[in-house]
Amino acid sequence: MESLHSDEFTAHWAEHDLGEVVVSAKEVNDRVRELGRQITLDYAKNPPLLVCVLKGAINFMSDLMRAIELPVEVDFMAVSSYGAATKTSGVVRIVKDLDVDLAGRDVLIVEDVVDSGLTLNYLRQYLGARNPRSLEVCALLLKEGEQRVEQKLKYVGFTIESHFVVGYGLDVNERYRNLDAIYTFTGQV
Ligand code: IMP
Ligand code: MG
Repeated sequence: MESLHSDEFTAHWAEHDLGEVVVSAKEVNDRVRELGRQITLDYAKNPPLLVCVLKGAINFMSDLMRAIELPVEVDFMAVSSYGAATKTSGVVRIVKDLDVDLAGRDVLIVEDVVDSGLTLNYLRQYLGARNPRSLEVCALLLKEGEQRVEQKLKYVGFTIESHFVVGYGLDVNERYRNLDAIYTFTGQV
């Protein structure tokens, strides 16, 4: 059987909708480990609460939390801004809120991709109002030149060109989250 974490082969069930590999599985893996090491150093005195933004950040969160050598806590929230299209509507809806109290906590938002930045901007204000001691962002991907609102991102995995991408948690119409690499999407939406 081919390796599950394969860089050489594009998943055959998806290949007709995928373009080039933007970030390979190995590159993701290496970078996530680096981010984990950095977060371990930066938060050594105050282990953070990791807030995963569902659903796109699930793969990233799962790997990142295991790369951090601190007693982190995790929580999840779900927002929806896209519907089924590939461009943001700018309207963010909270689909699932956090379970834990943020007051006095060092909160690190774990996001899949910052495109226009509208989703993150909304989240920052929404969570910032709950009096965390600190509120920072760890984004796997940052799309170059797309941000409509200035973003202060403490951690960024990769800066990529402004293509629509799928894989490693990122979807189009809920598909392709289960790919280990990140690809441009060339199929029909
Ligand atoms: P923003 O509000 O424009 O920054 O968009 C952020 C959200 O849109 C992300 O959290 C993703 O869920 C989604 N998104 C943006 N770009 C892509 C992409 O290229 N592929 C899949 N989802 C994306
Ligand atoms: Mg999404």
